[in-house]
Amino acid sequence: MARLRVAVLMGGRSSEHEISVASARSVLESLDPDRYEVRSIEIARDGRWELTSQAEQARLAKGDAEKLPVPLNGQPAPLGDVDVVFPVLHGPFGEDGTVQGFLELAGVAYVGAGVTASALCMDKDLFKAVMRDKGIPVVASVTVLERHRDQAENPFGYPVVVKPARLGSSVGISIAKTPEEFSRALDLAFEHDEKVLVEEHCAGVEVECSVLGNEEPVASIPGEIVPLVSEWYDYRAKYEEGGMDLVVPPRLDEATIARVQELAVAAFVASDCEGMARVDFFVSEDGKVLVNELNTIPGFTSTSVYAKLFEASGISYRELLDRLVELALERRERRERLKY
Ligand SMILES: Nc1ncnc2c1ncn2[C@@H]1O[C@H](COP(=O)(O)OP(=O)(O)O)[C@@H](O)[C@H]1O
Ligand SMILES: [Mg+2]
Repeated sequence: MARLRVAVLMGGRSSEHEISVASARSVLESLDPDRYEVRSIEIARDGRWELTSQAEQARLAKGDAEKLPVPLNGQPAPLGDVDVVFPVLHGPFGEDGTVQGFLELAGVAYVGAGVTASALCMDKDLFKAVMRDKGIPVVASVTVLERHRDQAENPFGYPVVVKPARLGSSVGISIAKTPEEFSRALDLAFEHDEKVLVEEHCAGVEVECSVLGNEEPVASIPGEIVPLVSEWYDYRAKYEEGGMDLVVPPRLDEATIARVQELAVAAFVASDCEGMARVDFFVSEDGKVLVNELNTIPGFTSTSVYAKLFEASGISYRELLDRLVELALERRERRERLKY
């Protein structure tokens, strides 16, 4: 049987470039070489696509599968034939529907959420609007646009959380304890986005749950996030060696754990996700489960939370990759039957 040609997209234009490269390396190491002919494409911080050698491009350009015209030194260049693209890109210009739209136009199968779900889940403000519409409990917040900054208010008291609407990795987020800190928090958040959320601070436990599937998504066993190097799950806690502890299963009663899993799948379905997602929660001290956010391309090394939670649920990293490639092909086949 011919091997499937998989292109792993890594890097990208966002501040999460390096994290993406680390995730992609893990994917490249673990995709079974007996099943897949793998190539990687690194998107530089300036948006250029770094293809592998000319010779390899020529070799890959034969055949009848998809040919992607990719931006290279300002000119479109053929990527060659690819059966499935695996975007391992975080944040803007990768996880937000832009790359997904490009892959849709090219007509190639790709792993993970489609255009709408990617764009929706990247935007914490719009995502929460959809969750509220579907009756899924989320953390209370108000949204402030940069052009209305002079009207920004904190209706929640202190501490209060201020975050850019469309970013990740805790970049640009502050927990303000005084009006002065609140003002500085807005300054910082507006450096990263024109839209900012002022959000009620949740005390209690932070819990994450991985989801896998298309039409019948399944939830992993959830895990509890315990930041070790800071008070909250900031950039250092996320990426420094020993920055956090993942407790699986969370130290919560069974009914609460089941509720997290149920809401993880509900949030995945409500936002039209496909393939994979990691849904992040707060469980308040009185046991209320609230959705914080949904990541359509979560950190994806073999030791990232997404993979660890499935490993604890009996699905290995390699199996996850196989399944995600299958799901990408399955979606494309399904969608090819539609009339437009
Ligand atoms: N409402 C909140 N209450 C308490 N902590 C919060 C709240 N919102 C965010 N945080 C902290 O900030 C971290 C990052 O926030 P999050 O909304 O998940 O943004 P990102 O997309 O950057 O991960 C969370 O993991 C949590 O530790
Ligand atoms: Mg988060």
